[in-house]
Amino acid sequence: DKGDFRHYMLKEIYEQPKVIAACLDGRVSETSILTNCFGADSDFLKEVENIHIVACGTSYHAGMVAKYWIEDLAGLPCAVEVASEYRYRKVAVPKNTLFLTLSQSGETADTLAALKMAKGLGYLTTLAICNVPSSSLVRESALTLLTNAGVEIGVASTKAFTTQLTALLVTSVAIAVQHGLSAARETELVRSLRSLPAYIDMALKQDSAIKMLADRFANKQNAIFLGRGSMFPIALEGALKLKEISYIHAEAYPAGELKHGPLALVDEDMPIITVVPNNSLLDKLKSNLQEVSARGGELYVFADLDTEFHEEVGVTFTEVPKVPDILAPIVHTIPLQLLAYYVAVVKGTDVDQPRNLAKSVTVE
Ligand code: F6R
Repeated sequence: DKGDFRHYMLKEIYEQPKVIAACLDGRVSETSILTNCFGADSDFLKEVENIHIVACGTSYHAGMVAKYWIEDLAGLPCAVEVASEYRYRKVAVPKNTLFLTLSQSGETADTLAALKMAKGLGYLTTLAICNVPSSSLVRESALTLLTNAGVEIGVASTKAFTTQLTALLVTSVAIAVQHGLSAARETELVRSLRSLPAYIDMALKQDSAIKMLADRFANKQNAIFLGRGSMFPIALEGALKLKEISYIHAEAYPAGELKHGPLALVDEDMPIITVVPNNSLLDKLKSNLQEVSARGGELYVFADLDTEFHEEVGVTFTEVPKVPDILAPIVHTIPLQLLAYYVAVVKGTDVDQPRNLAKSVTVE
């Protein structure tokens, strides 16, 4: 039932504060990660020395964000790969490596095949972060962390993605705690996690501002998304959403890569959508954006007010709430979901059932 919403996708975008709270329920106390949240005592995390993350599509983008978190918080090496590549190559598995899959449906053929292969490769254990409790992936993994997003009907994944990110941040902190993260930092991170639903609510308040931008994309053939650090995978996810439902060709780059090629594409017809973290990368990103402005590219900047971006000719600013740095990728996802949604509505495409796509990809 769509309730008052025109599409399931919009309904699911708006469910995010609630389902993220559901994802945290039973996983965190006021101050710490609960040790039994993987269906086993989290002592096994002490032994983990490496992490391999395997997934497809949007779930793969969630895995890419987790790499930044795990290496930053736990100091452990983390590799992320799409399942369709992983399953067809010879993978070197260092000792004490955790095999982590991500899937909304738990029925994605490539991800299941990767898990099957991984079981013969001597991993420490297998963990699935999944939205469907009765799925094959959950059944076949040793450990599970359910995302609790509820049924997702829109083919373009929204709430499944942000709950995966939430579950991945819980997992990253849990691993880090077993590898020397201080109790004070754990408490700080858990408090950030607990305020996530409220931040997502604030981000959703930009709905009408973003809706007003949509007209300006309706006649575009192409778009470029930029991010740096843990925002790069969010740029990829923003581009994927736009492609999937509005059929506009979109690419995402780490902003520092622009001058190594993609800058050649930039002219007055090219919208550049940028998700801007308010951290040490801010100044570098600003100089990347100047290169775009200098070539007449139309900039759409999603950032918090403290980044001091100003609207000027060729620059459209949309406010994103100021949040702890660790949460920025999750909160910045919201405006990009809304942007893709409203552009598709303006174009009149079938938002919930985009052409050529299936919700669950159970064949290779
Ligand atoms: C994009 C999308 C797909 C899925 C991918 C993996 O919006 O939904 O890219 O993320 O097919 O599906 P799951 O997560 O079910 O394994």
